[in-house]
Amino acid sequence: MALVLTHEDALRLADTEDGELAILQDEGIGFRGQYLGAVLAETPETARHGADLVEITTDVAPHDAHFRHDHPQVREAEGGADDVETGDVEAALAAAEIVVDQRYSTPLEHNNPMEPHTTIARWDGEELTLWTSTQGVHPARQALAPILGIEPEQLRIISPHVGGGFGSKGVPHADMMLTALAARAVPGRTVKYAVSRQHMFAITGYRPATSQHFRIGAGPDGTITAFVLEAVSSSSHTKEFPEEAIKPSRQMYAGEHRRITQRLLPLDIAVPSWMRAPGEASGMVGLEMVMDELAEACGLDPIELRARNEPVLDPDTGLPFNQRRLLDCLREGAERFGWAERDPRPRARREGGWLIGTGVASATYPASRQPGSQARIRLTAGSYEVGIGAADLGTGTWTALTQVAADALEVDPEQITLQIGDTSLPNATVAGGSTGLASWGTAVMAAAQTFRREHGRAPSDGAESTGEAEENPAEEELAMHSYGAHFAQVSVQETTGEIRVDRMLGMFSAGRIINPRTARSQFLGGMTMGVGMALHEKGELDPRFGHVVNHDLAEYHVPVNADIRSLEVHWLDEEDPQAGPLGARGIGEIGIVGAAAAIANAAHHATGVRVRDLPLFGSDFLPR
Ligand code: MOS
Repeated sequence: MALVLTHEDALRLADTEDGELAILQDEGIGFRGQYLGAVLAETPETARHGADLVEITTDVAPHDAHFRHDHPQVREAEGGADDVETGDVEAALAAAEIVVDQRYSTPLEHNNPMEPHTTIARWDGEELTLWTSTQGVHPARQALAPILGIEPEQLRIISPHVGGGFGSKGVPHADMMLTALAARAVPGRTVKYAVSRQHMFAITGYRPATSQHFRIGAGPDGTITAFVLEAVSSSSHTKEFPEEAIKPSRQMYAGEHRRITQRLLPLDIAVPSWMRAPGEASGMVGLEMVMDELAEACGLDPIELRARNEPVLDPDTGLPFNQRRLLDCLREGAERFGWAERDPRPRARREGGWLIGTGVASATYPASRQPGSQARIRLTAGSYEVGIGAADLGTGTWTALTQVAADALEVDPEQITLQIGDTSLPNATVAGGSTGLASWGTAVMAAAQTFRREHGRAPSDGAESTGEAEENPAEEELAMHSYGAHFAQVSVQETTGEIRVDRMLGMFSAGRIINPRTARSQFLGGMTMGVGMALHEKGELDPRFGHVVNHDLAEYHVPVNADIRSLEVHWLDEEDPQAGPLGARGIGEIGIVGAAAAIANAAHHATGVRVRDLPLFGSDFLPR
């Protein structure tokens, strides 16, 4: 028994605007790897065999899958450009005593949570239930219901545990839609679909390639007078997604004359999406490498260069900063890392055939609280049931929200029964943009305070209250970011070019740390992904067909245990009252931001070779 579903018989969607999600609606093919149909069977083996028997005839149309920054079709994003243009940057560059003019690039990078994307779907009449793995049940429902032509209340999404998600589960991708359409063909039955590891490289989003052209003018003392960044990212004709590598450059350093522009190039390739710190992680590769080059050109220590370009007000918005402790991170990190003993000259240290160098880079990530999360607290048989549709990607939400609830209710954590990951619970915003805990925690705190006010300290069984996280008014008046500093020591083998990251140290300012153990794990994970960006990760597009050739973990490398030697994480002991009642700013993403640049800068210090295109290859460091 098997059933074949194609564009000829799949449910007609109510809205086909979203080219990624509007699958099986017409004959068009946007990219290699797109869903063209589905075979349903009683077992996965039968279904796979059935899919193998399907013959598809196609016409070849002109297509382009080759990213280059000077392609004639490079253009503004659909929403329009948000360029920065202040002063007369060309005149300031012409007048500058020191100019660094360099281009940096980052490749396609792929989210690879250990648990691939899997969905189970069942239609009961006009009601659909999806059991899936997502960073936000309510946002996924909000995205899918209108396309399916049903009310949000007719769609229930359940996802209490998530086996990792670095943004690929932040928005629903076509695999969830495919499962919903397949289940529609067999009403009342459940349909299960697991995306294979290989297919994740085409279906579940990835970080697009970027090209970052910096031109920086400075005085001999390192003071930046002119700052130009022209960034271009790859995108997809099927659905647009800009990787905004310009984001950190807008606020990181001072400089009166500025031009910062973001453009993209749509190609006939898979749809890109969020990957841990979209924009910041890629953009800080170029910015923190060009700062290293500027420091060298000025004969300055890279930390001193950053100190000399510390802005008073946010160069982007003109607003004061909340708690900008970048220099504290750089200096305290330097102290712990032993930066003072460093000989600034490249190739100065050689031990047993290895060239050894150290490098530094800044980290940053915006602090934000998303409005709209709600929590409900109900006393049931002596236990406080705390319900909110939040997500735990393995980040520790189950633990941290239990702690927040216990603290706010002034009871033992054992008295809290947390419920998350279900649209039948009160609305929650996405686990994305490092906003999760600040947003949901604020809702839980509000609910706890209301509960105590309405029911006192000796509530009766069944007592219930709700609370909501509102917009943080401070975000209108302050430029709110977290900061950090990465230090890396790298060894490069002189005859083979083999690169090893001997040790890394991250120093962060992220407001109050709610749970040191889970927080440390987040920072370590981010830094480990930074090692991947620096040394391993690169999706190789076949320009003939537009698919990623190295689409598995045997050929697309991510760091493994043997790649990681010593990772040290520290944070400033602080609270940020402006960030909200928790005093926390969010830590999911800042750990990756800047980490790759610190490693690349260390590799330059070790060898004297400046590699501007990630990832670094051993052959980059060998004599040509
Ligand atoms: Mo994260 S890339 O904001 O899901």
